[in-house]
Order: sequence, then C-alpha cells, then structure tokens
Amino acid sequence: MTTTPTMRAITQDTLGGPEVLRLADVPRPDPLPTEVEVRVHAAGVNPVDWKTREGGGMAGVLGEPPFILGWDVSGVVERVGFGVTGVAVGDEVYGMPWFPRQAGAYAEFVTAPSRQFARKPASVDHVRAAGVPLAALTAWQALTDAARVQPGQRVLVHAAAGGVGHFAVQFARHLGAHVTGTARAAKHDWVRELGAEEVIDYTTTRFEDAVKDVDVVIDLVGDGHDRTSTRSLDVLRPGGTLVAVPSGVSGDLLDLARTRGLRATGFLVEPDGAALTAIAGLIDGGRAVVGVDDVLPLAEAAEAHRRGEQGRTRGKLVLRVAG
Ligand SMILES: NC(=O)c1ccc[n+]([C@@H]2O[C@H](COP(=O)([O-])OP(=O)(O)OC[C@H]3O[C@@H](n4cnc5c(N)ncnc54)[C@H](OP(=O)(O)O)[C@@H]3O)[C@@H](O)[C@H]2O)c1
Repeated sequence: MTTTPTMRAITQDTLGGPEVLRLADVPRPDPLPTEVEVRVHAAGVNPVDWKTREGGGMAGVLGEPPFILGWDVSGVVERVGFGVTGVAVGDEVYGMPWFPRQAGAYAEFVTAPSRQFARKPASVDHVRAAGVPLAALTAWQALTDAARVQPGQRVLVHAAAGGVGHFAVQFARHLGAHVTGTARAAKHDWVRELGAEEVIDYTTTRFEDAVKDVDVVIDLVGDGHDRTSTRSLDVLRPGGTLVAVPSGVSGDLLDLARTRGLRATGFLVEPDGAALTAIAGLIDGGRAVVGVDDVLPLAEAAEAHRRGEQGRTRGKLVLRVAG
C-alpha cells in the first residue's frame, strides 16, 4: 500500500499555555513488528494532556518538546506489522497505547503494540469511544486492582461527574458497591442516573459531615484542593482504602493512614487491551454510558485545553480527527 510520508498533528515546540499547541505536518510513523497503525477518528482529551503541555504530568517521560500529546484513540486499523494476528486492516479499535510514554493521539495516525488496543464498543461512534480508554481504565484499575472493591462495600467517588468519576460511579455499582459521589448540585441528577445512591454537593457541605464508614474512597481531586485526600481518611472505616488518583500519597499521608489502621495508595493507569474489551462489553450491554461534554475539531485542541482546565467538565472532552 502506498502511504503518505506525513500526517497532520497537534504539536508543540515549547512547554507552556494552550497557545503553544499548533497544527503541523509531521512524519507519519510506520508500524514495527507486533504493532498496528491506526487511522485516528477521534482523540480523547484528559487532564494529563494539559498538565504535560505545561511541564507537569508526563513531561518528564516525554522529554523536551517537540512532542505530540494525547493517549486516547478511537479509529480504524490502517496497517499491521509483522506478527499481528488478533486484528486486521479495517477493524475498528480503541485504546490508550504507550502510556506514560508518548502515544501522540492528537494526530491522524498512531502506531502501537496491537494488544494495547481492543475492539471499539460497537454501539457507540468513534467520538464517544475516544472518551473511554484513559478515564475508564483509570476507574476500572483503581476499583479492581488498587482497591479490590467487593459486592456490598461502600465506595465514595470524589469528582463523580468528571471523566474518570462518571465511569467510577458506574463500575463501582456494577461491582455491587453502594456508591456515594461528590459533585456540584447541577450535576446531581446525572450522577444518580449513573448509579450513585447519594450525591454530596461539595461546594456547600463538607463531605466528612455527610458520609462515614466507607470501605473505599476513589479520590479524583487530591490533596491539592482543600486537602481532599487527607480529609478522606476521616470517612473510612477501619481497614478501609484510599486511592489518591491525581497526586499520589505523601509520606505524611501514608503515616497518618497507617496509624489509623487504613490503607492509602497512589495510582497510575496502565494500557490494558483486555480490560478495554471488558469495558466495551459493559457499554454494548447497556451497563455503562460514556458522557461526552463537548466535541471539537483537532485544530481546536488549544480551545479544548482551555475548557478542560476550568475543571468543570461533565464526562469527557473529545477531539474529532477524521470524518
Ligand atoms: N493517576 C492516574 O493514573 C490518573 C488517571 C486519570 C486521571 N488522573 C487525574 O485525576 C483527576 C481527575 O481526572 P478527570 O479526567 O476525571 O478530570 P475532569 O474530567 O477534568 O474532572 C472534572 C470534574 O471534576 C469535578 N470537580 C472539580 N473539583 C472538585 C471537587 N473539589 N470535588 C468534587 N468534584 C470536583 C468537576 O465537577 P463539578 O463541576 O461538579 O465541580 C468536574 O465534573 C485529574 O487530576 C487527573 O489528572 C490521574
């Protein structure tokens, strides 16, 4: 097959604000053995993208710019490298390849190991599917691997209306947990529809005044805002688990948790094609929905970052790359 040597991508030459993001022609990657090349139809936007853009997040892994942001991909397999047997040209796939290394999802093509992708959920389009991988894998791995949530347990999800939170509420409910979420009042009906039995308006109520005897806290806010991780220890029952997703667990927080007989752990999401297959099954089975707050063209990645950085997103922001 003849392929063009370049592709359009959002790149940046320096670290900085959204204005450093620019559309450019860049070299198109070739798939190595065991890899696939995916024509990206849509790319999800995540907080790690803007954190990395300005020098935080995974900037230490990506190194000095220029680099291409983005880890969430939904698209169609364009080429397969030697040895790939699980997917074929033309298959619709989605994934969060390479994380925390560069995936370069804000581009027309991505190459990555085939097993870091899964079949896209058939019941949703590429835009919706692109909102799934990083946020849903985070929720899934935090609940199942980090916290080992069991049926009947009480789970508190902070930022329940956000990208990760809206999946965490649904997956915790799917695992048989009793779910409480925090969100501002305008989002309470939606968070209840997702499966939360109680929702706390964190803008008017201290969550520790409204909930107690929790087995697991999935903290998607972190100690950077109003000491949310540290305060979360107050609502855990003895033996309970805090998963501090954004900022990890400081030595002081770990010591405090230990002295109270609690478990506190940081967390970093990993690529997992098998989990994405299970998540696609939940979506296609009508047991999980993908909330998409807004869709912007690839060329408006900077505007997507400006919106996302306000921290008010309901579900996901997605960039449309093709179609
Ligand atoms: N460690 C990892 O592997 C990993 C993976 C994924 C994400 N993360 C991190 O986890 C965090 C959440 O990610 P995300 O994609 O879910 O972000 P997001 O979609 O941008 O979250 C937006 C949501 O946060 C809510 N929110 C903001 N402040 C809040 C507070 N104090 N209490 C309760 N809700 C609050 C907002 O709801 P309201 O409008 O109702 O305020 C909004 O719905 C980010 O810091 C991200 O970088 C880490």
